[in-house]
Amino acid sequence: MRISVIGCGYLGAVHAACMAKLGHEVVGIDVDARKISDLSAAKAPFYEPGLEALLEDVQETGRLTFTTDMSAAAGSDVHFICVGTPQKKGENGADMTYVDAATVGLLPHLAAGNLVVGKSTVPVGTAARLASLISEHQPDAHLVWNPEFLREGHAVDDTLHPDRFVYGVSDGSEEHVAVAVLDEVYASPLASGTPRLVTDLPTAELVKTAANSFLATKISFINAMAELCEAAGADVTRLADAIGMDDRIGRKFLHAGIGFGGGCLPKDIRAFMARAGELGADQALTFLREVDAINMRRRTRVVELTRELCGDGLLGKRITVLGAAFKPESDDVRDSPALSIAAQLQLQGAVVTVTDPKALGNAARRFPELQYVQDVETALQNADIVLLLTEWQEYRELDPHVLARTVAAPRILDGRNVLDPAKWRAAGWLYRGLGRP
Ligand code: UDX
Repeated sequence: MRISVIGCGYLGAVHAACMAKLGHEVVGIDVDARKISDLSAAKAPFYEPGLEALLEDVQETGRLTFTTDMSAAAGSDVHFICVGTPQKKGENGADMTYVDAATVGLLPHLAAGNLVVGKSTVPVGTAARLASLISEHQPDAHLVWNPEFLREGHAVDDTLHPDRFVYGVSDGSEEHVAVAVLDEVYASPLASGTPRLVTDLPTAELVKTAANSFLATKISFINAMAELCEAAGADVTRLADAIGMDDRIGRKFLHAGIGFGGGCLPKDIRAFMARAGELGADQALTFLREVDAINMRRRTRVVELTRELCGDGLLGKRITVLGAAFKPESDDVRDSPALSIAAQLQLQGAVVTVTDPKALGNAARRFPELQYVQDVETALQNADIVLLLTEWQEYRELDPHVLARTVAAPRILDGRNVLDPAKWRAAGWLYRGLGRP
């Protein structure tokens, strides 16, 4: 099939490459000329494992091209909308500027029978609004809402082998003409058994925000338990192991630590609350305020704990922060808890050095006032305290005996609870986890 993908960020670039991998002829469109020139040269504009290899692989077939010219969408059978919906400045709601602009820009290029497929995370009701806009211009085109559940760091695999497909169509019916077309797009993963659910438009939109709210709630639940464990002298990691063995609960997303960040969970729960308010259903989501508050408290807690561990205040203390990305295997620093903590410590008079295998460029653009050092050994030299804030594999594997000779004082705060306390203590370190005795 001929496919256009509008928006080539974390979602769209991966989607375009994966659709070409599935055998389709794909054009990726973005307003950012630098991104397009990178992608055209099979270079990923951000760090995502496997993406660059996939780009090289599919570009050799000639099935994948990139352009800034929206008119290149003309002639495609299916148009995916993959642009961002960031949080509005000064408000909780989602900024719909890019989704609206992408749709309006696409209208003149739509032909009868075309499918417009929304993948961006949007406030419920957006799809119905866009559907009527589209039908005014091209009554024989169809809008489908097909939310994307990919995780950064696993984006290629999540796109090629998703847990499920959700198709939201206007009448919610399997017989809707768009269903068969989208089935053809996803023929290969469907053939290997990926389940597919057909719903109406608002349900499909809500599936995405509900899923992300549930995940955020699960993380904040275990972080609330961490607060309690600290007060009671218990260990939240063993608590999570034990409750996670109940398969109604499950161990995934029960890692207590400095909380969630990134370009999705924080802004999605806020936009969801804002939208619920507009719909007169704000009471239903007041618990998400608490989820957000528990999450933000983690960051303050780490700053306080660092002060406590330093003994005599933060002023002039040399702090080394391991990790800047919001999670490992990503260079994304949007709403990164690690960077937010680093910046708060710096504001309170500490001398903060940050290291990260992939995210230093993005981090330096976001917080230029912090000091960034690529090499871990160098970053750790003469540190008064070390904070592990993003659990990259290489930080999990650090040797406490070797490091004890590099730092000024062997003190470590494990913000992700991934180190073995006994091993670090045996090597002479003062070890603190979060929610652990
Ligand atoms: C998330 C959803 O998982 C994905 O389905 C959706 O499409 C987009 O949003 P992503 O933002 O890539 O994906 O990251 P995710 O792996 O969900 O992690 C989010 C944040 O939660 C990270 O900061 C991570 O460190 C944190 N987290 C995750 C925890 O603190 N504890 C956990 O147990 C799990």
